[in-house]
Amino acid sequence: MSTFTVKPKVLVARQIFPEGLLRLEEVAQIDYNDQALPLTPAELSQRIAGVDAALVTGSERIDATALANANQLKIVSNIAVGFNNFDIAFMTKKKVMATNTPEVLTDTTADMGFMLLMAAARRLTESEHWLRAGHWKNWSLAGMMGVDIHHTTIGIMGMGRIGQAIAKRALAFGMTVIYYNRRRLPLDIEQECQARYVSQEELLRQADHVMLVMPYTQENHHLIGQTELAMMKPTATLVNLARGGIVDENALIEALKNKRIFSAGLDVYEGEPNINPGLLEVPNIVLAPHIGSATKKTRLAMMHLAIDNLIAGLSNQRPLNLINEELWT
Ligand code: DGY
Repeated sequence: MSTFTVKPKVLVARQIFPEGLLRLEEVAQIDYNDQALPLTPAELSQRIAGVDAALVTGSERIDATALANANQLKIVSNIAVGFNNFDIAFMTKKKVMATNTPEVLTDTTADMGFMLLMAAARRLTESEHWLRAGHWKNWSLAGMMGVDIHHTTIGIMGMGRIGQAIAKRALAFGMTVIYYNRRRLPLDIEQECQARYVSQEELLRQADHVMLVMPYTQENHHLIGQTELAMMKPTATLVNLARGGIVDENALIEALKNKRIFSAGLDVYEGEPNINPGLLEVPNIVLAPHIGSATKKTRLAMMHLAIDNLIAGLSNQRPLNLINEELWT
């Protein structure tokens, strides 16, 4: 790690673990938002104006507003793999490096996807609420019946690292794996995941369980709406581990109410942390508060990787996870 003659200024926009703060304090002067709440866009813009680097999470939008007065900013390091909170084109124009935290969260997030799938298919939260409410009087043959996971077909939309890790878990359950991705995977990866490439429509029609793991872009906003839900089997489940905006939540609520699909599991929401009230009313859905990567080990690894990226950028070294690579060439 390099030392600086004059310590650069770093905005830490959200609470981080103490060991991360200690690392940063060794090399920088820190402006720390130690409050549990994110900064407002106006506060973020004001505090980012005077710093050389910023450490942020997916809750901070880094766009023209945030960067309006950022004249010395070199790098914004995201403690997240997804970077839809970054306006990459604008950051590149302003010559601000953008970094994220891939790989360290792959398996933890894949576990979460599988957990949501199992909980949705087997009605775990629905039956727990029912039990807690005192409704369980007798075991019954037809009580709380779900749908099977083992030896069914999983359709994975977005076959990056996390999608592939989910496919490998699915194989252990004897599942058939089909996938859709913007680009078809190389043959060796398809073979490793025993996954067959299909069109989006084929996937929605054939899968018993649909898993969304792709990055969120303008192009896939509300990709799963009424038409797509209508293509799915009435016994199918839908899991969204990616970003809320990919699913039209009102269409999903209708599909769940009308039993167009069997159930759903969501970790992400369009207006999070605000939840569409309709989602809270349907029983056949499992709702988690964006905790895909939330284990201590993984969140620590994400924080340290984000700090590595930030320090590299400040030291004029190429950050490991540079997104706007053109700034380096
Ligand atoms: C990620 O890393 O993208 C997670 O969704 C947390 O934001």
